[in-house]
Parts: sequence; C-alpha cells; structure tokens
Amino acid sequence: MHVPTGRVDTMGVAERLRKLVRPDEGVIHASVYSDPEIYQLELSRIFARSWLLLCPDSQIPNAGDYFVSYMGEDPVIVVRQQDGTIAAFLNQCRHRGGALCRGESGNTKNFICTYHGWTYDTSGTLTSVPFEEVVYKAPLNRAKWSARRVPRLEVHHGLVFGCWDEDAPGFRESLGEAAVYFDLNFGRTEGGLATYGGVYKWRVKANWKLAAEQFTTDDFHFLTSHSSALTALTPEDAPPFSIVRGRVFTSSKGHGGGFLMERDSFATALATTTGQAASNYMMEVELPTVEQRYGEAMANATPTFANFFPSTGYLHANRTLRSWIPRGPDEMEIWAWTLFDRGSGT
Ligand code: FES
Repeated sequence: MHVPTGRVDTMGVAERLRKLVRPDEGVIHASVYSDPEIYQLELSRIFARSWLLLCPDSQIPNAGDYFVSYMGEDPVIVVRQQDGTIAAFLNQCRHRGGALCRGESGNTKNFICTYHGWTYDTSGTLTSVPFEEVVYKAPLNRAKWSARRVPRLEVHHGLVFGCWDEDAPGFRESLGEAAVYFDLNFGRTEGGLATYGGVYKWRVKANWKLAAEQFTTDDFHFLTSHSSALTALTPEDAPPFSIVRGRVFTSSKGHGGGFLMERDSFATALATTTGQAASNYMMEVELPTVEQRYGEAMANATPTFANFFPSTGYLHANRTLRSWIPRGPDEMEIWAWTLFDRGSGT
C-alpha cells in the first residue's frame, strides 16, 4: 500500500519539480511525465491522500456483489454489505500477501486466500484460519489480522469514492469551488447515475497526468482530433451545426472542465450525431429537471468534459465515466463506464 513515507527523497524531488514546472513562464518539462521518482511521489502524496473513484454503486446492486478496483496501484475489493452499505478493503491477505480475490466482479459470501486458506467475510473481517490451534496455539486476534479497510468511503450521485487518508478533508470539501460543477455533471437528476453494462478497460503507453490534464482543460481539440468520428456519425443530408460559445473552468485544487452556453445548438448537434431521441430527452426531461434543481443559468450550461482531481474523468455528452489508473510512470490503464440517469431508462 502506498502510504506517505520517506520512500523517495521528497526534498530533492520537490526542488527538482520547482525547476521543471514553471507556471509563470508557461513551461512544464516533459520529464514530469516519465520520471520514476516523481511518479513514486505522486503515488504517496496524491493517490494515497486523495478521494478516488472506486466504481458506480450500480456496479454492485445486491448484497454480496463485489467489484475489484484500484486506488493508485493498490487493488481494493468493493463489496455491497447485507445492510446495503458498502465496504472496501485491500485485495491482499494479511498472512503473506496473497490476493483475496482473483475475479474482477461477482457475488460471494466470503473471500478465501488461495495460498493457505485464510478466509474473510464480505466486510474484510478474518473469519477462519486453517489449522489455527495447531499452528498458532491460540485463536488469532481477528481485529488485528482482518483485511486492511479503506477507512473513508462516500457515495455521491451514484458514484463510490474512497480515500486512504483519515485526516484528509471530506469529499465535497476536497472539491472546493468545483463542487457546483461536480453536481452539474453528475447530479442532474434526482436519482443520480447508474452504469449501463460493465466496465471497458484498456492500456495506454502514457503517464496518467496526460489524460487528467486533457479532461481538465482541453475542449479545443474536438473539431480537429475527432473530425473523422464526426464525419462518420453525421448523415450526409443532416443540417449543418456549429457550437462555438463555451467556457472552461479550472480550480485551485486541480479540478476542471468545460461547458457550452448554447443549449439549442447542442440539442441540434446531439440530434445529428446521436439521434433525435437523445436530443428530445435532453430538451424535454433533462434540462427542465436541471433548471428545477439548480436554476436557469445552470440549465443553460451544458457540461461537455470534466476531470475531478486526480483521476475521475467524465464526458457528459456521451455519458462516459473514466478512471485513469496509473501503471508506472509511462503507462496507465483507462477504465470506462457508460452511465444513464437512474430511473429514466435513457
Ligand atoms: Fe493468504 Fe497465506 S497468504 S493464507
């Protein structure tokens, strides 16, 4: 588990970072995307302390449902409990570190380590140790040797977030002034969001920050980088559309995203690229609900992309939730879920 320790020369790295990242000059040295020491510092200073997306809660609807996720490089099991609450714990046996679960998701009554058979219930509590009396001469302290629990979990708009740091601010406090944008993206309707199907996973040979930065700040690539997709999606006889007026926000805590200010032109674009039904749903159901919940100004600001620091990305236009999971300084795994408004079936 990556806890804040003196594992790397933090003073030396901090000094180097000051030279590599010079915001007043608009300069970031490319090595911040590949330096192994900086990466280790990110694991202990960022991923061990921040609120991280674990999964949509709809991924584990029933008691005993589990989903194996990651917090930085640390694998964690997220499990729905009998009372409906959610627990999460390190996917690592307290005996000699074997994996407690080798599946990716499913339903179970307990987790049995396949190395020597220590067994844990769905809350991560150690319940059984083979040959316990013979080997240890007395029952082991169950509280001491249970799986390491993720101490802080919060569910917001149907998304489960976890944090290893017991002293960190709460989830909404950590959002700061970006909380309103978090609601604008994920809390548009009363029931929050649910996932449609499972999770897509793929690896990219790039540092995790490249994806996070992209989703925090860059809307301007869209018509160029995605022109082939737009061409493929747009019927030849479709009326032309253009969307030009929008805003990008960035916050001092590292969150950011963009939104468009023209709901009518966005509806036209949605009808052209995604279908009339999607456009009708937006205009007739979604936007009136947003207006009722947050006011007209919020309803007129249609979110397009966002990243909530460090690693939770979202594309509202196609309802794609993303998690950037670091896999070393020069590789990441991207997980993507497709979401819909819970209760709408849309
Ligand atoms: Fe899990 Fe030994 S490592 S039972």
